[in-house]
Amino acid sequence: MEHTPRKKRGPWIDLALITSILTLLSLIILFLVSDDENGFSKSQITAAEPLIDSTITKENSTFPGIHIISDISNDHKVPFSIQYPQIEDEKFNSIIEEYIQASKRAYINDMHKDKNKDSGTTRSDGLTIQFDTYQHDNKYFSFVFTERISKNTEEIKTKIKTVFYDMEAGKILDIRTLLGEDTKSLETFANHVRARLKTSPSLQKTIQKEKVDLATEPRWILFDQFAVHNDDLLIYFDEGTIAPAEDGPISINISLSFLNPLLASEFQTQMIEAEKAPGGQAEDQKKRVALTFDDGPHPQVTLQILQCLEKYKAKATFFMLGSRVQQYPDIALKVKNNGHELGNHTWSHPILPKLTEAQIMQEFTTTEKAIFDATGQEATVFRPPYGATSEAINQKIPKDSVLWSIDTLDWKHKNAEKLIAQVKQHMHNNAIILMHDIHQSTADALPAVLDFLSKEGYEFVTVSEILPYR
Ligand code: NI
Repeated sequence: MEHTPRKKRGPWIDLALITSILTLLSLIILFLVSDDENGFSKSQITAAEPLIDSTITKENSTFPGIHIISDISNDHKVPFSIQYPQIEDEKFNSIIEEYIQASKRAYINDMHKDKNKDSGTTRSDGLTIQFDTYQHDNKYFSFVFTERISKNTEEIKTKIKTVFYDMEAGKILDIRTLLGEDTKSLETFANHVRARLKTSPSLQKTIQKEKVDLATEPRWILFDQFAVHNDDLLIYFDEGTIAPAEDGPISINISLSFLNPLLASEFQTQMIEAEKAPGGQAEDQKKRVALTFDDGPHPQVTLQILQCLEKYKAKATFFMLGSRVQQYPDIALKVKNNGHELGNHTWSHPILPKLTEAQIMQEFTTTEKAIFDATGQEATVFRPPYGATSEAINQKIPKDSVLWSIDTLDWKHKNAEKLIAQVKQHMHNNAIILMHDIHQSTADALPAVLDFLSKEGYEFVTVSEILPYR
């Protein structure tokens, strides 16, 4: 009696059960599939973001058209302070925001993870993202973001992110564009960066040479973090890529004039373009001269020359010998403190083409170090003794090699009158004048030289300043 009703209901229940199980299964499968496609990153955003209360404000920057967005956490357990730029270009904005949100998300998720592990400990963890803006040639903007994460006040992680933007074209540009998409240029560029890293005195204690070799292979992606600032190209290396991680990210700068032959035409120095098209800007019609003093420093002559230059508010360039900088570091420091340009003129004044490559680099790097030790600053230019050099040597030396256009022959005649006559006879615009701050006659001639040139309307600049006009 009890059997019959059960057997009659059986198929209905089974059918209902099977149907609902199938429906559930297909719903689950559907949900999983759709979640796999695009749900992953979304669920991460929504998991972390709404939990942190923050204040977002917008203000003007010193650059027209660029606003600064500040996003500051109100949750003292998850502190962060973020600033980033916002402009008219929505595409630019979304790329920046994507980067900012990803950094924030990673940090917040990390904080939550940590909290689950050991709750209750007081910590002063924090994320800060700040950025610097560098303008070049009016339309190019470099945004350099510095992202710092501190944990328990001691463990600090720093990351650099750069964005190079053409405001006129509304385009983000990469290093490939800067070097004209040319792989030959990339190879030479990579060599320059490598040489610079290995010879820069300020980096010798930190960099690991094997890592430098790997980080400066001629691959575009390795040089993706860069900025253009004050006519220098800055290249950034992530924490741990060329030095121990605790030394943080490392950057070097190479002057654009040094890289000029490698650059795409639109990035070659503006002045050269103006020269190509006569009747350019007023800048181009200026009269300027670069005075250079070699083979010093000298304890009396250099000082007398510095006094004279100061009187005329003239800037000059001093190509120093490493051996003499070591002997007179305080004179070298005075040259730097008076605002003159520092040049490397080798250690012992040899004829470079007669030396081996190793000896040449030794002459260069020991002098770099001597100048840096004495002045706290690197030489920005190089001059081979006697002007004797070669293409191969120029390739090896990671700085602008600068010769001269007027030789005063002061080393030969050691006569003030003849020096002045030599300048008057050969003077032309954008001249680089060679003198030596080791002869008393040169120091004695200088007031008359400065007097003549300033009456002729010349401005006294450093060689780096005059190079783009030559
Ligand atoms: Ni010399």
